[in-house]
Amino acid sequence: MLARTSGPLTGIVTHLLERPGKRLRPILVILAASLGEADPRAIIHVGAAVELIHLASLVHDDIIDGAKRRRGRPSVAAKWGNHTAVLIGDYLWAQAYMLLTCQAQYGVVGTMSEAIADMCQGELTQLASLYDPSGGEEAYLTRIRLKTASLFAACCRAGAQLAGLDPACTDALADFGLQLGFAFQLKDDVLDFTASARTLGKPVGSDLRRGILTLPALRLLDDSQHGPMLRACLEARRFARGELRRLYKAAQDSGAVTYALQSAGSRLQAARRQLLSLPPAWAREQLLDLVESLAAAYP
Ligand code: IPE
Ligand code: IPE
Ligand code: MG
Ligand code: MG
Repeated sequence: MLARTSGPLTGIVTHLLERPGKRLRPILVILAASLGEADPRAIIHVGAAVELIHLASLVHDDIIDGAKRRRGRPSVAAKWGNHTAVLIGDYLWAQAYMLLTCQAQYGVVGTMSEAIADMCQGELTQLASLYDPSGGEEAYLTRIRLKTASLFAACCRAGAQLAGLDPACTDALADFGLQLGFAFQLKDDVLDFTASARTLGKPVGSDLRRGILTLPALRLLDDSQHGPMLRACLEARRFARGELRRLYKAAQDSGAVTYALQSAGSRLQAARRQLLSLPPAWAREQLLDLVESLAAAYP
C-alpha cells in the first residue's frame, strides 16, 4: 500500500520504510490474536495498521520534541521540515484507517481510536507540564499511560477482539499490554539518562534539557545534594551545560535511575501475572518471552 505512493511522498515513505523499528506493536496484535481463532488476513491488516499508527506518532513526536534523529537517520522533520512532517504523519494515520476499516472490524477501529486519543492527550499533558514537578510521580505515570501504554494495551485488546476471546481473557491481555507499555516507557526514559545516541539511533540526554520530567528526574528532586540544584534550574527554565552533565551523573549515582528501573521491574512482574492467568498456549509463552527480553534489555 505504502510502497505504491507517488509524487513527493515517494522519497519520504521510502526513507521511513527503509529503516523499520522493532515492530513490537504488531507482534502484540499477532500473539494476542493467536490465543484464539482469527482470520490471518485480518491479523495482517490490523498488525500493519498499528505499526503505521505508531510510525505516525513518531513522526509527529519528533516535531514536538525537535528531535533530529530517529532510527539512526534524520527524522522526517529534520530532513523535510515540520510542515511536511505534519502531513506525512496525517497521511500515515489515513493509511492505517484504510487498513483497519477494510476488514469492517469496527470493535478494533474503536479500540485504536481510543488509543490515538490517549496518545494525543498524553503528549498534550507532557507539553502542559514542562519544567513543572508539582504533579510528581502520579502525574508522570498518567502521562506515560496515555502516551505509550495505552497503545500497547490497544494492540493486545485488538488481537483478542480479532480472535473473539472472552471478556475476561480480553481484559487480562489488555492489562498485560498496559503494564508492558508502562515498563517500556519507563525504560526508554531511563535510556535518556544512560544510553548513547549512537546505539539508540535517536537523541539522548535531552528530556531534562527540554523540561520533560521523567521518573529519574522526579526522584532526583528528593536528593539532598542535587535536588535543590535541579529545582533551581527548573524554576529558571534553563540548564547550564555543566549543570546538566552533573545532574545526569547524579541521577545515576544517587539511585534515581535504579528507582525508575525498579518501577519498570514491578510493571513487568504485573504483566507476567496477567499472562499466567490465561490458559497455557504457545502464544502465551511467546508473550512471556517478550516480557523476559524487555526485563533483560538495557541498561
Ligand atoms: C519509541 O518506540 C517510542 C516510545 C514509546 C518510547 P519504539 O522503541 O518501539 O520505536 P521503534 O518502532 O522500535 O523505532
Ligand atoms: C514516546 O515518547 C513518544 C510516543 C509515544 C509517540 P518519547 O518522546 O520519549 O519517545 P522517543 O524517545 O522520542 O522515542
Ligand atoms: Mg520523543
Ligand atoms: Mg524517549
